[in-house]
Amino acid sequence: MSSVVRVELGERAYDVRVGAGALSSLASHLAQVLGSAPQRALLVIDEGIPAPAVERVVLHLEGAGITLTQARVNPTERVKSLETYERLLASAAEARLERNDPVIALGGGIVGDLAGFVAATYRRGVPVIQCPSTLLSMVDASVGGKTGVNLSASLGGRQRLLKNFVGAFHQPRLVVADTDMLASLEPRVFRAGLGECVKHAMIAGSEDLLAWTESSADAILAHDPDALAQLVGKSVTLKARVVAGDERETAADGGRALLNLGHTFAHAIETLGGVRKRGSDDPGLQHGEAVSIGLVAALAAGEKLAMVDGSLTRRVVALLDRLGLPTGAQGLPPAAELMGAMIDDKKTVGGRLRLIVPTGVGQARVVQDPEPGAVRAGLAAIGAP
Ligand SMILES: NC(=O)c1ccc[n+]([C@@H]2O[C@H](COP(=O)([O-])OP(=O)(O)OC[C@H]3O[C@@H](n4cnc5c(N)ncnc54)[C@H](O)[C@@H]3O)[C@@H](O)[C@H]2O)c1
Repeated sequence: MSSVVRVELGERAYDVRVGAGALSSLASHLAQVLGSAPQRALLVIDEGIPAPAVERVVLHLEGAGITLTQARVNPTERVKSLETYERLLASAAEARLERNDPVIALGGGIVGDLAGFVAATYRRGVPVIQCPSTLLSMVDASVGGKTGVNLSASLGGRQRLLKNFVGAFHQPRLVVADTDMLASLEPRVFRAGLGECVKHAMIAGSEDLLAWTESSADAILAHDPDALAQLVGKSVTLKARVVAGDERETAADGGRALLNLGHTFAHAIETLGGVRKRGSDDPGLQHGEAVSIGLVAALAAGEKLAMVDGSLTRRVVALLDRLGLPTGAQGLPPAAELMGAMIDDKKTVGGRLRLIVPTGVGQARVVQDPEPGAVRAGLAAIGAP
């Protein structure tokens, strides 16, 4: 099953092409969206992708007459930095990229965010084509035009890695989500992407996506090709709709900000480091795992605010468990420290906390300045002392 989801953004509208083998027609679609086949391109390659899959894309693009310059990135949050950004800008210059020559991101969310930021700023902007290779980047990071890098800074006497603190909005001209790429993902990385899918189901506006995810969980975990293509297609459809309604996250009624459900908690956990999944020896946390934990915190905060019923919390926790996602953490610092980190998050306005809180099945809303007791309840639910 393959599908094309249109992100309706007027003159910046673009297609997300989803399905098994979608990358095999990349070159023709590239020529279509750019008006003609580009002469040159910078291909930013995620080093985690198995060599044969990269080789296929390289041969396909070169076979279409494109002169490729390849730049490789070993993606970690530390590498998602201004230094790597500068190295990639230099690669673009050395490739002699001109205004209509694209940067093509072939990789997970880190590579996509880096390559997108390079494309946003190199010679004041060149096209970016996103070819996401992880589940998370297919359903979330590659769609919507947010690009950027992390910034290391000392806040309150402690060195912090400020996630996505430097960046730009730069919509891709095309997204190609080839679900065949998911086969080589580490199981833990695959599952982390499911965290964002559950988040999408929690803000989908109806019960359909949550119910579909519950009934398809076994097929998804078994990597059934049709289930994967549907999962990505459905999740991208939701993301595209939200982005089209509020491209720059300025809507008063929530809009794109709703996509941050669970993220204020997740970013605080990621920023402080040294945290693991509850009951696990796996080191660190994947972003999607932090989001999964953040969803549980947001639900607990919502219960404390009497905005959401405990039955939804139990339903979502059961789904996260079934998908092998964490619902709590160990090694968390005291709640007061975490609350400080939440206020330092770039999403705060004037030092005021803004939380996305579930209000029902498929529904959530923004709560400005939530009472501290609700935030503490959220943090306690995930294991903060
Ligand atoms: N721009 C946005 O709107 C947006 C949204 C959500 C997340 N993000 C960002 O995305 C990043 C997380 O992205 P991610 O979850 O894709 O993680 P990631 O980019 O760190 O990739 C995870 C791992 O998978 C490996 N990998 C990638 N493709 C592979 C493949 N096909 N086979 C085997 N291994 C493969 C990578 O090498 C890496 O080790 C974070 O930095 C987050 O801030 C951005």
